[in-house]
Amino acid sequence: MKKLLILTLMISSFHVMAAGDAENGKKLAYTCTGCHGIPFYQNTNPQYHVPRLGGQNEAYIVAALKAYRSGERSHNTMQAQAGNLTDQDIADIAAYFSTFKK
Ligand code: HEC
Repeated sequence: MKKLLILTLMISSFHVMAAGDAENGKKLAYTCTGCHGIPFYQNTNPQYHVPRLGGQNEAYIVAALKAYRSGERSHNTMQAQAGNLTDQDIADIAAYFSTFKK
């Protein structure tokens, strides 16, 4: 029984590792939650609603961050946030946020 549990844990953690390291993402996402973790937070100028990231689709977060980083998607705040992230950072952050349940 114990062996089965360990095996299950190994498989599930491998599943998370495959795309990004959620543990590392948690550290990287610390600053992000300052804005994205506050329910109903509105950016003051301009009046943007800050989208909720917890439980968001992993591929969607990766695509959004890469678009901000390349400047394809423009938003001053988020371009500044995504500007220094590597592809691995982005994968890790996306893995972390996608682990939340809605
Ligand atoms: C100062 C506040 C602030 C911080 C800090 C911040 N964000 Fe954002 N984020 C925003 C706002 C505002 C938007 C909406 C921008 C828009 O409309 O394009 C946004 C949008 C996004 C989106 C797109 C969501 C969607 O639904 O399209 C992603 C993904 C994202 N942020 C990830 C992050 C990550 C990862 C970090 C940390 C590295 C981070 N953000 C830090 C304010 C912030």
